[in-house]
Amino acid sequence: MDALLSLFPPGSDVAEDRMLRVGGCRADELASEFGTPVLVVAEQALRARAREYAGELAARWPRSRVVFASKAFPCTAVQRVMVEEGLGLDVAGGGEIVTALAAGADPALLVLHGNAKSDEEIAMVSEHGIGLVVVDNSDDVDRLEATVPDGRAQDVLVRVIPGVEADTHASVLTGHAGSKFGLEPAAAADLIGRIERSPRLRMQGLHVHVGSQILDVEPFARSVAPLAALGEFPVYDLGGGLGARYSYGDRPPSVAGYLDALLGAAREHLPAQAELIIEPGRSMVASAAATLYRVVTVKRGQVTFVAVDGGMGDNLEVALFGQRFEAAIAGRLDAADGELVMLVGRHCESGDVLVDGVRLDAPRVGDLVAVPATGGYCHTLANNYNGNRRIPVVFASGGAARLVVRRETWADLLARDVD
Ligand SMILES: Cc1ncc(COP(=O)(O)O)c(C=O)c1O
Repeated sequence: MDALLSLFPPGSDVAEDRMLRVGGCRADELASEFGTPVLVVAEQALRARAREYAGELAARWPRSRVVFASKAFPCTAVQRVMVEEGLGLDVAGGGEIVTALAAGADPALLVLHGNAKSDEEIAMVSEHGIGLVVVDNSDDVDRLEATVPDGRAQDVLVRVIPGVEADTHASVLTGHAGSKFGLEPAAAADLIGRIERSPRLRMQGLHVHVGSQILDVEPFARSVAPLAALGEFPVYDLGGGLGARYSYGDRPPSVAGYLDALLGAAREHLPAQAELIIEPGRSMVASAAATLYRVVTVKRGQVTFVAVDGGMGDNLEVALFGQRFEAAIAGRLDAADGELVMLVGRHCESGDVLVDGVRLDAPRVGDLVAVPATGGYCHTLANNYNGNRRIPVVFASGGAARLVVRRETWADLLARDVD
């Protein structure tokens, strides 16, 4: 049971009657207060991770900052926690700018990304005073030059393709040769020259991002050297990508181990006086949350299907990337001798599987099922498939729970209809 508990947010435990507690809150009470499915965030675990990142980075490179990649959990309340912990925010597009500002972020601490930033999004840069724009292509430069007011100069970084492959799912690789993100070094050098000649732009530095759910430090270290060949700059943003722990066998590097490798390469290749930025997303939030579901039906045959009241509408990571999660009955976590089942969702796809092959202790209708490590990209990828009402987000802390995102309603599903 300890092995399973270690996948739940730090601080999770079981009550005397064996009920799972997250953030000090009993899973059964969370379910009855907020309904199921519900995404429960252990607020103290989230804050502790933000502090760990900030502390470990500052200890190794004082001129540095951690910028949370909002896309991993794009929710005002989560962004607000990061702001309160002193972090900046990476925003990929107008929607994340809007929620970041609602979360109280200082626009000067926002870093805007996107391989296809629209006119509207580029206009928001000057309108709100966004600190850094990561230029992905020459059209970004055209648009910025057309919108930055006279007498101002917008700070920009140029995104460089380092040509690094990492062992992760192909669709979350971004730093390989031929990536749609950023520019190959030769093209980056040309664009840097153009930016340096522009009166409306200030060339501050370079950006690199290898991909996501990377469980080895070596690709991060290898992504730094290609930047050095492009000259010396005041700022380097070395991206995010550190993997999270979803299942027993996952052994992601610690934040300290990751930074040792990354900053070791930075020390070797980058100017010592430069400011460094990192952009962790998944590894900041994944382990801070768990999702609670209710069992709707148990069908025993060749395979035992345990179907719950959610699925790919609230967790697309399995269908998209084949991510392995674990699961347990919230009141009977210990399932060493349990039944081997396929935990599936309620959506009209055979690929709507939450866990393919997991032991559950005598699963039956009405049981509460808990899936740990759902903080990364699950809220992001939530959708309305089959008229799914996107699920609520609840912060649990010290035994108290508060709703930070409500469940969608049937009315929400009709709200955009105009006829
Ligand atoms: C530019 C950039 N920075 C940071 C991240 C965060 O990555 P992760 O959530 O894997 O840490 C991403 C996500 O792919 C990204 O595209």
